[in-house]
Amino acid sequence: MNKTCSLRRLCNLHEYLIKQHRIIRYKSNTCNDLKSFVLYDKFICERRSQSKCSVLVQVSSENSISDLYSYCSKFGSIKNIFHYQLAGSNHFVLTEFEDQSAVNTLLDQSTHVKDSNVIAVRSPFLWFRSNASKKNSKLLSTNDKLNVPFQTNQTMIEPNIKNIGLEKFDSLSDQMLLLLKCTQLNDIGTRLRFLTAMQIENSLKGIFPLSKVLPFGSSVNSFGKIGSDIDLVLMDSEIKENKTSRLIYHGKCVSNSRTQIQRNIEILGDLLQLFLPGCSRVKRISQARVPIVKYSQDFVGVECDLAVSNETAVNMSELLYIFGNFDYRVRPLVFTIKMWAREINLTNDTPGRWITNFSLTLLVLFYLQQEKIIPDIQTLVKQASNSDVRITNEGINCTFLRDVSKLHKDVENKKTLDQLLLGFFEYFASFDFNTNAISLNFGKTINKPEYSALYIVNPLEVHFNVSKNISSEEMERFRIELRNAAWTMESSLLNTNSFNLLDLFKGFDVNKKNQIVFEIQHQIKNSNRLVTVKDLFDDSQTQEDKRLT
Ligand code: CTP
Ligand code: MG
Repeated sequence: MNKTCSLRRLCNLHEYLIKQHRIIRYKSNTCNDLKSFVLYDKFICERRSQSKCSVLVQVSSENSISDLYSYCSKFGSIKNIFHYQLAGSNHFVLTEFEDQSAVNTLLDQSTHVKDSNVIAVRSPFLWFRSNASKKNSKLLSTNDKLNVPFQTNQTMIEPNIKNIGLEKFDSLSDQMLLLLKCTQLNDIGTRLRFLTAMQIENSLKGIFPLSKVLPFGSSVNSFGKIGSDIDLVLMDSEIKENKTSRLIYHGKCVSNSRTQIQRNIEILGDLLQLFLPGCSRVKRISQARVPIVKYSQDFVGVECDLAVSNETAVNMSELLYIFGNFDYRVRPLVFTIKMWAREINLTNDTPGRWITNFSLTLLVLFYLQQEKIIPDIQTLVKQASNSDVRITNEGINCTFLRDVSKLHKDVENKKTLDQLLLGFFEYFASFDFNTNAISLNFGKTINKPEYSALYIVNPLEVHFNVSKNISSEEMERFRIELRNAAWTMESSLLNTNSFNLLDLFKGFDVNKKNQIVFEIQHQIKNSNRLVTVKDLFDDSQTQEDKRLT
């Protein structure tokens, strides 16, 4: 019995040390962020090339992987193989070849279902027919047998935050880093997002040879989470005129009007619904400010939003990517705030009157500007070189410094993640949202140009408010929760000198609050010293308390 206990303790300790080691490694990898900074264009280009060399094959079970591997090897050298399973026990194998020509040969030699009801479509999504004569072949058990980096350890399903072992870390900063590590978009998730984009791009190649479909938003801006939706945009052709060619394609004139965009959305909706494998639950949302087609890609298990000509959003993703990679504290703080908002139901997967993840991300970035951990956008604009100049087709100026490793980075602020988390809540708990608008361009507040419950100046289209959708009621709820969070953290730190992230995600417990108020008052009385829990003793908060209790 004792032996088992000590063995278990030893295992726990071992597990703990491995995690500690991983976290320390993560910190040391990310501390010199800007030295290892990868340009956004390079990142996108590499991921697109990877997707051009990849196919996704559905197999009946894990046991078919070795068979699939030897079958696919006929077409070219395989670089990577990933296996994942979706709910409903569907097994998929993402196979990346060394060379794109292997994929072309493989697709040329693949066959279609012989059924007059099934339209033959070429796409990187296939299924593997089992070979009766090989049914009893030896099962695959180790990577060695494949002699390729065969990966099964990456999930497409977001882990439950209660099961990732947050409680094993005493330090709140370490808990925040672990949260990031366990929930951030992983390699396979990124690969599949680019493959999902490539499916649409390839299907349009015949008629629009120069068009590209690019992921944007959280899939690429460094703030993406496992399982989060994919935002896609069909980009207009980039034409580099060849002056020496005397043969020029005939073309048709189409306007770039909203009506044309809405028609394009309808056409794309039909294409996805009628012809493209895996695309289901297609909805055309043509009346939105940015018209989109919503659909599910069933082979990848994610929801997608496809827009046309939304170049500004792509530039916005790059701007956020730059900030996300600027300092190692940015992403864990954004992830913690987004998770907090989701767990206490401030955000919702469906769009509406509530705050969005995008707005929350901008609020965190603004706070980090106040802490001088990241620069304001004006600084990036001033440092831009000729190669950074980008003016979109709609005339929006998206010029800012892309290669921030050139920026002289001298961050004096050495605050830890837990200090920044509390700082975020305290800063916005006492923020005057009624008169101030938030401008990341200047890194300062400005007067609200018009009434809106929350006003965050769109960093690239400065006449728009990013958070125009938020109602006064939702804003009030947000403000209360900011104060509650600040209060919960402060009182716990004051009482126990520690704080557990899961307590923040549990939301606010009024009874517990009353108990703590009592304890603090008791402490003040006995210690004869002034203990300040900022929000608790703030007048307006006391009013709030009365309302809540
Ligand atoms: N976007 C924008 N202006 C808005 C809303 C969105 O420019 N008012 C752009 C941003 O680049 C944003 C992207 O569209 O990142 C996608 O929006 P959304 O899916 O709402 O946010 P994500 O950042 O992708 O976050 P989530 O993980 O919730 O999808
Ligand atoms: Mg998104």
